[in-house]
Amino acid sequence: MKQTVLAGIRATSKLHIGNYLGAVKGMLELEKSGEYETFFMVADIHAITTPFDPEGLRKNKYEVVIDYLACGLDPEKSVIFLQSMVGEHAEFAFYLSSLVTIARMQHLPTFKEKVKQYPESTSLALLNYPTLMASDILLYNASKVPVGIDQEPHLEIAREIARKLNSTYSLAFNEATRFATEGQYVPSLTGEGKMSKSVEGSAIMLTDDFETIKNKLFAVPTDSGKGEGVPISGGVKTLLELTTLFLGVEKRKEYELMYLSDGIKYKQMKEELAEEVYKVLIPIQEKRRYFENNPQIVVEVINYGKNKAQKVASENLAKVKFAMGL
Ligand code: ADP
Ligand code: TRP
Repeated sequence: MKQTVLAGIRATSKLHIGNYLGAVKGMLELEKSGEYETFFMVADIHAITTPFDPEGLRKNKYEVVIDYLACGLDPEKSVIFLQSMVGEHAEFAFYLSSLVTIARMQHLPTFKEKVKQYPESTSLALLNYPTLMASDILLYNASKVPVGIDQEPHLEIAREIARKLNSTYSLAFNEATRFATEGQYVPSLTGEGKMSKSVEGSAIMLTDDFETIKNKLFAVPTDSGKGEGVPISGGVKTLLELTTLFLGVEKRKEYELMYLSDGIKYKQMKEELAEEVYKVLIPIQEKRRYFENNPQIVVEVINYGKNKAQKVASENLAKVKFAMGL
């Protein structure tokens, strides 16, 4: 029996290069290895844990599927599906919520951040976010989860819940670990925090054209170009990180040496970076256009994925319900 991989991305917008490097690249690698049963979902239920509008959600869940396909995920090798189409996810999350305390959830750094971001909308669903994510993972008994480093606190909860399920009901769930990529933390173009869909001006989207990418990179805050030590934060750090990810670590070292001697010419650096980022995005954008023009293929992928996912999810859920006496 092959081990299982599961990952998801919230259906809040189209994807950016942080999502691609931190999550989708890991999905692609695990899919290609052929060593796992791979399940890749669009977390549309997770999208209702913070303020959303139904029309946006209706659109965005398809956008993420299109991004998955455009990035090269193969529906013949992986099960690609929408979380809300497999009712077991929400059902199991409720059962799992009996195993976690409110205090544990309230103290999670990811919860606290969202409370700060949306102080008026701290719903019970938001508090339950990690329980729903544990449900996603455990329904397929996944052992590996390709996600960025920001998701580690949620994986810790999923492991705690797995242990609790196993000890309380004599079950045998895996404790899933994160599958990390080189781009597990892509910093924001603003120079503060991580690149994120929900932070204005922080991200390069997979759909951005060359001009847009160039303009966004030119807006990254910089300094005089030289100094005593290489910057460990801010816009220059972001540019150096992107250089490592798109041009390689040797190129980054060159820039670091320049910073410590004659100085970096940011115009040249940003132009070179824009070209390399765009080169990576060209084939993704071409594939995206194909799926945009063939929406029936996208719908087929989703319906096919739903059936395959539900088969596994319902079998696993039945076992847990029995063990719990339900
Ligand atoms: P966002 O924070 O932009 O709303 P999500 O929370 O939907 O994105 O994240 C989707 C996936 O992409 C997760 O696996 C997450 O860890 C990863 N991810 C998001 N932002 C980054 C980033 N800046 N660097 C690396 N991975 C990221
Ligand atoms: N919480 C993840 C994010 O913000 C999305 C997600 C939902 C997920 N369910 C998951 C990721 C299950 C991995 C496994 O990106």
